[in-house]
Amino acid sequence: MKKILITTPIYYVNDKPHIGHAYTTLAADVLTRFFRAQGKEVFFLTGTDEHGAKIADSAEKSGKSPKEFCDEISDLFKKSWENLNIKYDYFVRTTDKRHEEAVKKFIEKLKEKDAIYEKEYEGLYCVGCEKFLTEKELVDGICPDHKTKPEIISEKNYFFKLKDYLKEIENLIRKNKLEIGPEHIKNEVLGLLKQGLDDFSISRQKERVKWGIDLPFDNNQIIYVWVDALLNYISAVGYGDNKKEFKKWWEDARIVHLLGKDILKFHAIYWPAMLLAVGEKIPEQEFIHGFFTINGQKMSKTLGNVIDSNKIVEKFGVDATRYLLLSQFPFGQDGDIKQEKFIEKYNSDLANGLGNLVARVLTLAIRNKIQDTNTKPEKEILNKINKTKENYEKLMEEFRLYEVLEEIWKLISFCDEYIEKEKPWKNPNPEKTISNLLYCISEIADLIAPFLPQTSEKIKEQLKTGKSEILFPRI
Ligand code: MSP
Repeated sequence: MKKILITTPIYYVNDKPHIGHAYTTLAADVLTRFFRAQGKEVFFLTGTDEHGAKIADSAEKSGKSPKEFCDEISDLFKKSWENLNIKYDYFVRTTDKRHEEAVKKFIEKLKEKDAIYEKEYEGLYCVGCEKFLTEKELVDGICPDHKTKPEIISEKNYFFKLKDYLKEIENLIRKNKLEIGPEHIKNEVLGLLKQGLDDFSISRQKERVKWGIDLPFDNNQIIYVWVDALLNYISAVGYGDNKKEFKKWWEDARIVHLLGKDILKFHAIYWPAMLLAVGEKIPEQEFIHGFFTINGQKMSKTLGNVIDSNKIVEKFGVDATRYLLLSQFPFGQDGDIKQEKFIEKYNSDLANGLGNLVARVLTLAIRNKIQDTNTKPEKEILNKINKTKENYEKLMEEFRLYEVLEEIWKLISFCDEYIEKEKPWKNPNPEKTISNLLYCISEIADLIAPFLPQTSEKIKEQLKTGKSEILFPRI
């Protein structure tokens, strides 16, 4: 398909943006730039999740009205993405009128399709997770993620008939009609489906949760924040509001959701089930990336180890931050981030690696008055470049961003070795060697473009003007 909708989760505004959020959003930005370079039309969607008890509590603690509070934090997300040169096409907020209307329409549709029923319910609710937990999920009676005791809540709610769709979802996943990647996560989802899942409640009583969207057919109830949130993916592209837009970016596009594994069940099971229930198309693909820890520990406010991406940008610059975040560990796996390692990696890969290579080659070119990047290089060089490009495209299609970077950096090392081997400074006729290298560098500039867009531009500029400037000063 030529059109692609790429999404990130919409982030809760109860907390400031941090590098966990930046990681997913950055990956979406890189993929968007890559697909565009391939001539595809891409819509990159991100935004903020602003309803629910958790956010209402945070607003109250800060002495602000919920809306005022949401506006402020939502802006912080936008600012962080701007600082990382992340260029989304649309920023959805669940407090947008357009979103709220779409959500109401969708819920009406679920009711019309008889996919909703009423039930008295008692359960253990964790406000941190904004979901009911089972006894099994608790550790010593406490939510393992939020270290708080869930409340026992008993109330009348509306339920979605999830069980009716589980078999179909399993089939869709097995047949890769809904492609869940990487493979080990797909198996995890199939495992969850095998265990069996219960219908889930799609509303909360208003006396307990006030900050949210009213349930259209019962004004004592508020729509459950997760149902509200998932619907951003369609409200943002015109569901119930603009048929033409919705056809273009939902019905006729390849839909790719990127997310962390913490919210897998909602995306891989609840979401497609809701869409099946109303007869809408389900996403083609969900890619679940790993979670990182900081020096081996979960990133958390209480531990005080939360890293702000803006701080890294201040220290290393935009492109370097983009590189540092994505070159830590493979995108689909868990990993650990050690901030001290950032400096080491910056110096070895950017200052001494890419930056030094470009400077060396340009100096040679200037000294020998060569400015040609178009002449086809020798076979050995061309083969290396073609092989790199082939691997690059394949890995990109599989979202293996870390491996893509490795592939580019292998080409950089190859060039360094080539210089050492050819020793153009000793050669009375170094023209061919230098033009080979210039060709490589202009290819490298293209390959890094989705990851390091400004650096890519700078290299192209330097090749054009024949002036060398330091790309990454050593730190
Ligand atoms: N609001 C929900 C999502 C609704 S989507 C319809 C939510 N928000 S969140 O603010 O908690 O963001 C969760 C997402 O942030 C994760 O799925 C992941 O994409 C990203 N990450 C947060 N912490 C992270 C790490 N430590 N490591 C990697 N990604 C992390 O859940």
